[in-house]
Amino acid sequence: MNEIPGETVQEQTFYEQVGGEETFRRLVHRFYEGVAADPLLRPMYPEEDLGPAEERLALFLMQYWGGPRTYSDHRGHPRLRMRHAPFTVDQAAHDAWLRHMRDALDSLGLAPEHESELWRYLTYAAASMVNTAG
Ligand code: HEM
Repeated sequence: MNEIPGETVQEQTFYEQVGGEETFRRLVHRFYEGVAADPLLRPMYPEEDLGPAEERLALFLMQYWGGPRTYSDHRGHPRLRMRHAPFTVDQAAHDAWLRHMRDALDSLGLAPEHESELWRYLTYAAASMVNTAG
């Protein structure tokens, strides 16, 4: 453990700062509870069981923020825009997706600077996933 003030925090990844795997699993679990009850989003998910989709999103976010690289070990390069191409991601789907993410993020009770950094990324990423006008 590095005892010089300041250094320990700087050496931590964002993933570690927000609480690691447990935090990302809570975020994504709550998000998928919203998706499961959403009349627009639920039919978009090809699998009957949302569990595997929940696992993929959790592993992706953990990897993105500096956690283990398990997502790519299983799925290869993320190529997220390409992976969303089979789905109609229009403004309505974008808005619904972000609404459930907002709710999930609020449920975590993160420090304001962590919460706003995560939200900035999620809104940016969601906008970049839109592939259908309207
Ligand atoms: C904007 C609205 C979005 C919609 C409607 C949407 C919808 C979907 C759907 C239907 C799937 C397929 C379920 C599955 O097989 O996993 C999926 C997969 C996935 N989405 Fe999204 N998504 C959106 C935005 C995002 C964003 C912003 C991210 C990242 C921050 C993301 C990350 C992922 C990941 C990691 C997968 C699994 C990819 C794989 O390994 O196959 N999605 N999404």
